[in-house]
Amino acid sequence: MDGAAVLANAATTTTTAGRGVRRESANGGSLSRSPYLTTNFSFLPHNSKLQNQLRFTLKNAPTTYGISNARAVRVDSPLSSVPSEAVDIDWDALGFGLVHTDYMYTMKCSLGGNFSNGELVPFGNIEINPSAGVLNYGQGLFEGLKAYRREDGNILLFRPKENATRMMMGAERMCMPSPSVDQFLQAVKATVLANERWIPPPGKGSLYIRPLLMGTGSILGLGPAPEYTFLIYVSPVGNYFKEGLSPINLLVETDMHRACPGGTGGVKTIGNYAAVLKAQGAAKAKGFSDVLYLNSVNKKLLEEVSSCNIFVVKGNTISTPEIEGTILPGITRKSIIDMARDQGFQVFEKPVTVDELLEADEVFCTGTAVVVSPVGSITYLGKRVTYGSGGVGVVSQRLYSELTRLQMGLVDDKMGWTVELK
Ligand code: COI
Repeated sequence: MDGAAVLANAATTTTTAGRGVRRESANGGSLSRSPYLTTNFSFLPHNSKLQNQLRFTLKNAPTTYGISNARAVRVDSPLSSVPSEAVDIDWDALGFGLVHTDYMYTMKCSLGGNFSNGELVPFGNIEINPSAGVLNYGQGLFEGLKAYRREDGNILLFRPKENATRMMMGAERMCMPSPSVDQFLQAVKATVLANERWIPPPGKGSLYIRPLLMGTGSILGLGPAPEYTFLIYVSPVGNYFKEGLSPINLLVETDMHRACPGGTGGVKTIGNYAAVLKAQGAAKAKGFSDVLYLNSVNKKLLEEVSSCNIFVVKGNTISTPEIEGTILPGITRKSIIDMARDQGFQVFEKPVTVDELLEADEVFCTGTAVVVSPVGSITYLGKRVTYGSGGVGVVSQRLYSELTRLQMGLVDDKMGWTVELK
């Protein structure tokens, strides 16, 4: 991978060692933080993807990098270089845990304003006022999407526009401003390219991209925060469940609920996830992989698992709970529905009862993190129902393979879902 010194200012000199480029400050030290750095494209080094990305950004999304003119561009960013050295990581041992990478992206906005001046900064802790809206009143959203490295070196994003629009919808519910779809996409692309060396090799996993939107302005009385931060960090990941593609064992939770009608279950707000920790922890302590939630009105209908959507298969029919406010509109859920229909299954988005679950031939979960995860057993009111013979169900396997092959760029993307970062 090529190294890339991206930004320069008058006080810096450039040294090139091999294919990598290092920047040093006038006093000889490494350039770390400099408040306003000027990009001159003659400095842009060998990483052509990053060069193109920055050029594209400058041409198409002026707010992303704070343009002052066409030749010398002021970029409010301390980004000095994209390291080229291979990362010291055992790709075969990747799970779903945070690995610190090189850069994160941040962009701010005041209440009633527009996001602007996004910047890539070194990954690290952020400073936040103790009275920030997100800390005190949970005014926050997150997203999750993945980048895959293809055999030919290209990088693929999976349906990033869907995440951008879902964040906008969530922001509306949580009384927050949100980045435009274009700003979201540009920020994701810039963050992925700046952390390119952390994208696992083909077949070894993906780069999980975590956009956050949070009320970071201070507010003591209850109300929307006066300032917001959009932040993206990334981490290479492998399987979400330790079981991998092996079937997981779910416990149906009958006391605690994830969401209620009129609440925020249908948006990706941070509080939805803290709310499941107690039931999830209790289930894990009993040896279950996770918890399946029921509707709060009569406890007869399926909602979702803590971090993913649920599907039940009966013959040629696949059913999944309809989206009506308490269930997260998963992007993998939506993709699997389309794929299954394309494969000739009858797919229903409808109320799905516990009885249907217990009588299913096969059950599986979907999500960005979990992809497609087969369910081996369900335990409901002390009764355990197992599916198949303990192996991966044929429908789950088929949908998993088709989806992951498309995400990794191993098949033609006739759906037009992947976005290539060139
Ligand atoms: C995702 O699938 O991206 C999620 O949001 C799940 C998360 C709780 C790990």
